[in-house]
Amino acid sequence: MAKEEKTFYPQRVWNDTEGNPINAHGGGVLYHDGVYYWFGEHKADTTCSAMVGVTCYASKNLTEWENKGVALAVDADDSESDIAMGCILERPKVVYNKKTGKFVMWFHLELKDKGYESARYGVAVSDVVTGPYRFLRSGRANPGKFSLGVTAADIAALDTLVEERLAYRTAEWQEAVKQGLYMKRDFEGGQMARDQTVFVDDDGKAYHIFSSEENLTLHIAELTDDYLYHTGRYARMAPGGENEAPAIFKKDGTYWMITSGCTGWAPNEARMFSASHIMGPWKQHPNPCVGTDAAITFGGQSTYIIKVENRKDAYIFMGDIWRPEHPNDSRYLWLPIRFQDGRPVLEWMDSWSLDYFRVK
Ligand code: DGJ
Repeated sequence: MAKEEKTFYPQRVWNDTEGNPINAHGGGVLYHDGVYYWFGEHKADTTCSAMVGVTCYASKNLTEWENKGVALAVDADDSESDIAMGCILERPKVVYNKKTGKFVMWFHLELKDKGYESARYGVAVSDVVTGPYRFLRSGRANPGKFSLGVTAADIAALDTLVEERLAYRTAEWQEAVKQGLYMKRDFEGGQMARDQTVFVDDDGKAYHIFSSEENLTLHIAELTDDYLYHTGRYARMAPGGENEAPAIFKKDGTYWMITSGCTGWAPNEARMFSASHIMGPWKQHPNPCVGTDAAITFGGQSTYIIKVENRKDAYIFMGDIWRPEHPNDSRYLWLPIRFQDGRPVLEWMDSWSLDYFRVK
C-alpha cells in the first residue's frame, strides 16, 4: 500500500475507497472482529437536519474506509415518526453487547421542526454491525430518578429555588444549578439528553454520557445489561460547567474525558477531566491541546476517542471541524494522543500515521 493511503491528514477532505468524501460526522468507531466501523451523521449540503440518517464505513487500518451505506435511515414516509426525515439526529455511537449478540446504537434526537427543544436520546438495534438498525424509541432520560448521592433533604432544600425567581447566570442561579435546579425541574418528564457518547467498561457495563440540564451538566447514566435502557442510576458531572461533545477512554484504570464548551458550531477550548471511578468524583485538568490554536481545539470539537488495537497506549482523538454553511463539507480532526507525565496531550499535526504508536 502506498504511504499516502496510510496517512491521516486532519482537516483535509477525506475520501472513502470509492473516492467520495466520507460523510460520517459527530461519529464514533466500534472495533469488531478485526474491523473498525465508523458510524456518523450523514450531513446534507444546506441543512443540519437529518435527511438520510446514520452512515457506516469499515476499515482495517483506520485510514482507508469502505462505505457500508446507511446503518440507520430516517423515516422518509411518516412525518410523525420520531426519526422523520428532517429531524435532528446527532452523535450516534454503536456498542456491541456480548450477552445478546446485538449491536446497539444510541444517538441524540431532536424531533422534526422543534429546534433543539426535545433534547431526547434515541436508541436503535441490529443483529448485523453494518445494519440496518431498527429504531426502538426516543425519550428523556431517567424519569422519576435523582442522581446518585442526592438526598431527600437536598431536594427539599431546592424547593425554595423557583426558577423564574432567579435571574439567569447570577451567582444564586449558578448555585441552584449546581444543586440540581434543572434535574429537579425535569424529574417527572425525564432528564434532557443532547451531545452524547456510550462507553463500555472492562466489566461489560455500559454507560450513556450526555449533556443534560440545559447543557449545563453532564450525566453519566448506567445502562441495563442489554444496553437498551437506563437503569436509573446516574451521576452528575461538572454541574453548571457547560460541557458538550463528551469523548471518553480508560487507561491504566483511569477514566479520561475530553469535552468542549457550548458555543454551537463554533470551536472553543477543550476541557479535560479524569476519575478513577466512572461515576466520579471527576477532577478537571487544563486544556489538553497545546500549541497554535490550542484555545479553539485547532478549529474542531471532540466526538470520540478510538483505542487502536495492537499498539501500545494508542488512542486517537476524533473530532469534527464543523462547516455549518455547508454541513457536508465539515472536516475531521483525528490526532494521536500523547501522554506527558501521565496526562493526555493533543497537538496539531499536518499529517501523521499509525507509526506514531509503538507496536505491542
Ligand atoms: C454543538 C454540538 O456539539 C453539536 O453536536 C450540535 O448539536 C451543535 N452544537 C448545534 O449547534
